[in-house]
Amino acid sequence: MRVFVSGATGFVGRALVQLLLGQGCEVTAWVRDPRRARQRLGPDVQLCPTALAPDELAARLSGVDAVVHLAGESVLSGAWTAARKRALWSSRVQLTSQLVAACRAAARPPRVFISASAVGYYGDADDLELTEHSPRGEGFLAELCEAWEGAAREAQAFARVVLLRIGIVLGPDGGALGAMLPAFRLGLGGPLGAGRQYVPFIHLRDLLAIIVQGLQDERYAGALNCSAPEPATSRELASALGSALGRPARLPVPALALRLVLGQRARVVLQSQRALPARLQQLGFRFRHPTLRDALQQCVQRDAEVSMRAAGSGDRLPLPEAPSHVLEHRSRLHVPLSQAFEFFCRAENLGLITPSWMKFEMLGEPPAAIGEGTVLQYRIGLGPVRLRWRTSIRSWQPPTHFVDTQTSGPYALWWHEHHLQADGDCTLMLDRVCYRLPLAILGRLAHWLFVGAMLRAIFGYRGEAVERLFGPQRVEARFQARSGGRGAI
Ligand SMILES: NC(=O)c1ccc[n+]([C@@H]2O[C@H](COP(=O)([O-])OP(=O)(O)OC[C@H]3O[C@@H](n4cnc5c(N)ncnc54)[C@H](OP(=O)(O)O)[C@@H]3O)[C@@H](O)[C@H]2O)c1
Repeated sequence: MRVFVSGATGFVGRALVQLLLGQGCEVTAWVRDPRRARQRLGPDVQLCPTALAPDELAARLSGVDAVVHLAGESVLSGAWTAARKRALWSSRVQLTSQLVAACRAAARPPRVFISASAVGYYGDADDLELTEHSPRGEGFLAELCEAWEGAAREAQAFARVVLLRIGIVLGPDGGALGAMLPAFRLGLGGPLGAGRQYVPFIHLRDLLAIIVQGLQDERYAGALNCSAPEPATSRELASALGSALGRPARLPVPALALRLVLGQRARVVLQSQRALPARLQQLGFRFRHPTLRDALQQCVQRDAEVSMRAAGSGDRLPLPEAPSHVLEHRSRLHVPLSQAFEFFCRAENLGLITPSWMKFEMLGEPPAAIGEGTVLQYRIGLGPVRLRWRTSIRSWQPPTHFVDTQTSGPYALWWHEHHLQADGDCTLMLDRVCYRLPLAILGRLAHWLFVGAMLRAIFGYRGEAVERLFGPQRVEARFQARSGGRGAI
């Protein structure tokens, strides 16, 4: 299946691209900055710049099976000045109209057009149960969602249109949870405002499953509330996140403080939407993470699957210095060993499996082939700090083993072993990193304060990305295709 994705570099879009690639789709991403997109999406995604002229865009869309349109300026970043509101509007309404017009002008237009919208459509609805039949609410966001959906509905002239009224998306790398976690990890989290407002959450995995099903299932059409069947209040969200992290979460953020800091944007976090996925339930969609506790547990648990310990005498390496810590992460890939090895030894794929907050950038041309002694150079961003990192490949034993070791960069020692082993049609993979920070006691303190958690998050994200690229859903998709069941892609 050929899928054209907008917003592919975002929180939802990048995860969708990983899943689609994993299912063997041909993906084209409509992007503002092709160079940055290449770094984030890897070499297997075709890029289509948003700067293309309308006729060129129409030509690129011809023959595409489906469009998934997720682009839009972030609603929460930047004060809602008149100019910002115009940007929010045009990046959704005008951009959607532009895309729909190009699809219509294509010689062979896509047959499916899936467009993001938001539960913001319903405005502030207190504790009213909101289904897809509920009327539009009041306020800027509700009007924006209506106009955005209206622009997408124009695609009904040539395609089946699915409108995703998305709730707060919970996933391990970014989104709302990414913003909340730092305070909650320190035990400084709590409900927002009075805490009684309903937060219509959805786990990222469930949202992706809805999109993938929407690509293939003719019954998916019109507006769909994309939020879990058991909406929770802000107070319940804070308490569940606190207990998932084992931290207290009782410090409320007063509504007045939110309004002072966020201005009009405070409405986004203070309004109440008890949205129910009525249509999805009629369609028989089964949520993998229907409850808040379950959804949050999965997000937090990812990092816990990365084991970390102080190095012992058994961790001797062929290097002059000893490591201080050893990190291990295991994954099972539902592809044969040769395919798994080919993916992991291609340097251009690294960006696709690295969390976006690292602002990973490969410097220079990626080497045509990797082998003993190959040097790779990157830049990564940690907050405002940009760091250069140079590694060299050691102990190259395809297709079961290789090591990358730092030759210059932030660590005093970095030795990353990749072990792969065939297991029937699957591959078992073990990442083992032996490392040490510089500056003796200060390095240990930095490790305790944030570096340990950061490494866990990096490998936790990698596990999540690898599951989307090489997880069991590949096998399920192939099985559907073979059995000729509805929805094979
Ligand atoms: N995440 C949520 O909780 C949530 C909830 C409700 C609705 N939604 C909607 O779902 C969609 C995806 O959400 P997300 O969390 O993945 O958003 P995100 O992380 O903020 O990503 C937004 C994406 O849109 C692109 N974009 C922004 N402005 C653009 C423009 N003017 N032209 C072209 N591309 C533009 C960005 O590209 P660059 O990389 O170039 O910036 C990025 O790829 C959004 O439309 C959002 O409003 C999300």
